[in-house]
Amino acid sequence: MNKKYRHALVAGNWKMNMTVSDAKPFLDALRNELPQKRGCDIVLCVPFPLLHAMQRPAKECRIGLGAQNVSEHEKGAYTGEVSLAMLADLGVKYVIVGHSERRQYYCETDSLVNAKAKALLAAGIAPIICVGETLEQRECGLTMEHIAYQVKAALFGLTSAEVKRCIIAYELIWAIGTGRNASAGQANDVCGFIRSVIRKNFGAYAARGAAILYGGSMNALNAAELLAESDIDGGLIGGASLKPADFAKIIAAASE
Ligand code: PGA
Repeated sequence: MNKKYRHALVAGNWKMNMTVSDAKPFLDALRNELPQKRGCDIVLCVPFPLLHAMQRPAKECRIGLGAQNVSEHEKGAYTGEVSLAMLADLGVKYVIVGHSERRQYYCETDSLVNAKAKALLAAGIAPIICVGETLEQRECGLTMEHIAYQVKAALFGLTSAEVKRCIIAYELIWAIGTGRNASAGQANDVCGFIRSVIRKNFGAYAARGAAILYGGSMNALNAAELLAESDIDGGLIGGASLKPADFAKIIAAASE
C-alpha cells in the first residue's frame, strides 16, 4: 500500500447473505471490534433490500454504503432492475461492477461493465470494477493478457480524471470462497501490472491515484501480509466480511 498517494480501502461484499434483521447486530458487533485509530476507508456492499435500513447506522459508523450491481439503463421497462438514481437516493457511494459471479452466472460482458462504470462515474458514485483470471487462464500463462484486456475494456472511453476515481478489484476467481489464494507477491505482481496498464493508457496521474484492491479469500490471517505489498491498496472481502471480528481485523491490518 502506498499511503502517500492513495487511501487504503476495505470493502466488504455481503453477496446474497444477511437480512435487515441481521444487519443491526452485525454493525453493533463491528463497532465494538473496530480499531481505535482507523487508517482506511470502510465500505459495505450489501444486498438491495438492506440499503435503506443501513443508511443511517452505516453513516454513524463512518462506513460507506455500497451496492453489488446497478442497471446500465436510466429508467423504464426493465423488470427486476435497480437504477442509479434509486441507489443515489439511498446514499450509495460505491457499486461493484463486473464481479466474476455476475460475469459467470448473469453473462455480464466487458462492454456492459464499461457502460455501468461510465454511468456510475457520471452520477458521482465510485465503481468497484472487478477483473481476474480463471485457474485455467493462469495455468496457460494468460493471466496478464486477460487482465490487460479486461482493464482496457472496462475503462474504455473514460478520462484520466475519471479513471483516478475508479477502484479496481483484482479477484483471483479460483481463490473466491475456496480458501485458496495466491502468495502476496503473486497478487502484488498482478496489481502492479494493472497499475502499469492504467499508466500506459491514462497516464501517471490516474495510475498513482486509482485504488487497486485484492479479492479472493482475504481473511483475518492473511490480510496483513497482502496489504503490506506496494500495489495492493485494500481488499474486496466476501466471506470474512460476514464475521464482525474477522472484518475488523482486516480493517486493523489496513490501518497500519
Ligand atoms: P471471498 O470473496 O473473500 O469470499 O473469497 C471475494 C470476492 O468475491 O471478491
